[in-house]
Amino acid sequence: MEPYELTALEAVTTRPPRPYEHISVASLTPVIGAEVSGVDLSRLTEDELAEIRTAFLDHHVLVFRDQEITVDEHKRFAGRFGDLRPVNPPPPEGDPHVLEIRTSPAAANVAGNAWHADGTADLEPSLGSMLYITETPEGGSGGDTLFANMHLAYEMLSPTMRGLLDGLTAVHDGAQSFRGYTVPPDYEIPVNEHPVVVRHPETDRPILYVNQAYTSRIPQLSADESQALLGMLFALVPQRPMLTCRVRWTPGTLVFWDNRCVQHHATYDYYPRTRYGRRVAINGGPLKG
Ligand code: SIN
Repeated sequence: MEPYELTALEAVTTRPPRPYEHISVASLTPVIGAEVSGVDLSRLTEDELAEIRTAFLDHHVLVFRDQEITVDEHKRFAGRFGDLRPVNPPPPEGDPHVLEIRTSPAAANVAGNAWHADGTADLEPSLGSMLYITETPEGGSGGDTLFANMHLAYEMLSPTMRGLLDGLTAVHDGAQSFRGYTVPPDYEIPVNEHPVVVRHPETDRPILYVNQAYTSRIPQLSADESQALLGMLFALVPQRPMLTCRVRWTPGTLVFWDNRCVQHHATYDYYPRTRYGRRVAINGGPLKG
């Protein structure tokens, strides 16, 4: 590893653990993800919620196991972090804030089967998502979700590369995620530009904010330069398992991730079996570089 990569890793991995009083928090890896236990999400106390907020900013992905929650309880928990984000395009039926994540038998593909963060083509992308899985593939294996720490992806770049990226913006195009699907006729596909490096609104820590599913180009560069640079940036996560954690779902698991600083990837490795859950997302604000 290069010295600047080690410095970035050391800064994250040598932080002392927090003394939680109302919840238990066990890291999934030293850089991303934690399992939170000792809570019932259907009746959280204010003390538990305050510690969950702290753990969320420290670990970026929180896993809550063995939860039995209704749709309303799921929405109430999400609503403690901000306004609920309507599903877009809206579901043909059912609750406009609940995205059903359903893999039917022998599906050709599944939603989220590429590295991305939710809603980055929107002018004000999502703060976070809460996915509650109630049915895992028969036999108990497959359908894990991978998460990557995009703070660290940025911090492990060379100072020269970070300096170059700091002055750039990138276009995020919602049409990219619809390739191969029919877009609803009255759906206005979002296309927006964000800084390539944004600051986390709550911690001010920098984030590499481009992803393979939505980011189409860097307008300050030629087409060839943009493609080459984005290709290198998209490859950082798949080439560095060290940036990632893996969540193995069991029925009744809810995972809450921070869409501002985390990318995720749904793994479709369970054909022809099925999987089911529901996702509620939270609105974020404008992103600043
Ligand atoms: C998603 O939000 O992209 C889906 C994640 C998953 O199904 O694991």
